Amino acid sequence: MEHAPLRTFGRAKGRPLSARQQTLIDALLPHLEVPEAEAGELDPRAMFDPQPEASGLTPPAATGFTPKEIWLEIGFGGGEHLIEQARRHPDVGFIGCEPFNEGVAKALVGIEENNLPNIRLHMGDAREVTMRLKDGSVDRCFILFADPWPKARHHKRRLIQEDFVAELARLIRPGGALRLATDWADYAEWMLERLLRDRRFEWRARRAADWKTPPADHVTTRYETKKLGDMPPVFFDFIRRSE
Ligand SMILES: C[S@@+](CC[C@H](N)C(=O)[O-])C[C@H]1O[C@@H](n2cnc3c(N)ncnc32)[C@H](O)[C@@H]1O
Repeated sequence: MEHAPLRTFGRAKGRPLSARQQTLIDALLPHLEVPEAEAGELDPRAMFDPQPEASGLTPPAATGFTPKEIWLEIGFGGGEHLIEQARRHPDVGFIGCEPFNEGVAKALVGIEENNLPNIRLHMGDAREVTMRLKDGSVDRCFILFADPWPKARHHKRRLIQEDFVAELARLIRPGGALRLATDWADYAEWMLERLLRDRRFEWRARRAADWKTPPADHVTTRYETKKLGDMPPVFFDFIRRSE
């Protein structure tokens, strides 16, 4: 019998949603959702195909387009980074995964207010999506400030594990990119150890400034501003090697 993977996130539900947030979850999210598991293997480009039925809420948020690239954000929290990157890159199709309903509701507010047609969402564990994505179908992936699970007995709940790194290497195309960020020293080491062990990822950083300085295209996240970790944030940019 197969077991569900260990839970890597804290809560999926928080305070009751506002009426507007609930309306967006009920009425807009169904139009933007990554197709259900019965749909089998996922070709992310096809998710953005023009849909005959728009949400009726704020066209063209739920209407389609042909993305030049696919960028995946795992654990987008309140969606600040996802929304801003989607605004900056209207020709890119974004997939955002986040189990926390309030975070998804905030992202939906951003999608509606900015009328963004280039985002699809999964309200749940990202691994339900990554396991179905076609090989090499993602151009860039962001995992920013993943839950640190600092206690040793919780390390098994960390999202970055050897098998998940292998999954990322499978779905990011050769030449594509992966960005990890954290403000926990022990998790930073943990991440690097696992990424560097997988020969499919290359880390080109040479000096401390390369990982201590936020990348030029980074968008500061809400979690980051809280400074909850035990060190200033670090950013690890990897390239998916061609085999
Ligand atoms: C510490 S928060 C950081 C949120 C956001 N990236 C930021 O920097 O503000 C980590 C987020 O990852 C989400 N998360 C944890 N495990 C996840 C998983 N397996 N799939 C998708 N999201 C996950 C959590 O729900 C949480 O919102």
